[in-house]
Amino acid sequence: MTSLLYALTGAESLTRSLARQLGCEVGSAEQRRFPDEESYVRVADDVSGKAVAIVAQLDRPDRKLLPLLLLADTLRDLGAERIGLIAPYFPYMRQDTRFLPGEGISSRYFARILDNHFEWLLTVDPHLHRYPALDAICGIPAEVVTAAPLLADWIAGNVSAPLLIGPDSESEQWVAAVAARCGAPYRVLEKTRRGDRDVVIQVPDMPAGRTPVLIDDIISTGRTMIETVRQLKQQGLPASVCVAVHGIFADSADLGLRAAGAGRVVTANTVVHDSNGIDVAALLAAEIARVEGTPAVEAGPA
Ligand code: R5P
Repeated sequence: MTSLLYALTGAESLTRSLARQLGCEVGSAEQRRFPDEESYVRVADDVSGKAVAIVAQLDRPDRKLLPLLLLADTLRDLGAERIGLIAPYFPYMRQDTRFLPGEGISSRYFARILDNHFEWLLTVDPHLHRYPALDAICGIPAEVVTAAPLLADWIAGNVSAPLLIGPDSESEQWVAAVAARCGAPYRVLEKTRRGDRDVVIQVPDMPAGRTPVLIDDIISTGRTMIETVRQLKQQGLPASVCVAVHGIFADSADLGLRAAGAGRVVTANTVVHDSNGIDVAALLAAEIARVEGTPAVEAGPA
C-alpha cells in the first residue's frame, strides 16, 4: 500500500488533499534548480522498502519531466520499492500518429520514458483519439478515471436549462456522458483544424431559451472554444459557460475566451489554474484505494 506521496513542485495542494483522503503521509523532498538551471533533488525521508507515489501536474511537461524523473530515480536509489505516478493530466497525447512524414509519435515515446521510471500510473481523461486505451502505449499498469460525472454535477448545480455543446467529434464521449448524467440536451459540432492556432467550427442554429455550455477535454490555445463562443454570441444566445477537464490556457487563452464573450470558465484541478472549480482529489483517492483494496479515509473537499 502506498504510504508516502511526494509532490512534484506545483502539485503540493493536490498532494496534500490526496494524502488526507488516503490516510498516508506527504513526503518531504527539496526540489530546486542550481544557478546553471540543472535540477537538484533531495529526499528527506527514509523510503527504504516503502511503496511511494509522486503527484505531478504535467502541463508544460518539458520543464517538469527531468525533475520528475530525477525525483523518481532518487527515491528508487534510496530504497523505495514501488513508485507510482499520479499525473492527472497526461501530456503529449495529441501527437498520436505521424501526421507528416518524419514526425515522431511523441505520445509513445513519452509513455515509454514513464515505463522506465515507474511501476504504475494513474491519470484523468487522457486524450484518447487514435488509441483505444492508455494501455496501447503504456507498458506499466495505467489506471484511468473520468471526470465526466464531476463535470455533470457541476453543471447541474450551477447552470439552469443548459444546452451542452461539444465543439468537435472527439468531444462527443464527454458531452454524451455529461448530458446523460445531468439530463440535458446536447449537440456536437464539426471542427476542422488547419493549424495549432487555426480552427474552423461549423455552428448550426441553436435553440433559444437555454444557456450554452461548451464541454471539452482540453482547452489548450483556446481557439476551439473561442471560435465556438464567438459564433454562439453572434446567434444572440446567452454568454456561453465553458467547462473542461484540463485547462492548459496557452497563449493566455482564458483572456481570449473572456474577450470572445464567454461567461464562466470552469476546469478541473488536473492543471492548476484560476478557473479550477472541479476537484478531482476524491476521484483519484477512490481509484487508488480501489486498486490497493483499502478504503479512502476521508472523502471531503480539500
Ligand atoms: C481536440 O483534439 C481536443 O479535444 C480539444 O478540442 C483541443 O485540444 C483544444 O485545443 P485548442 O484549445 O488549442 O483549440
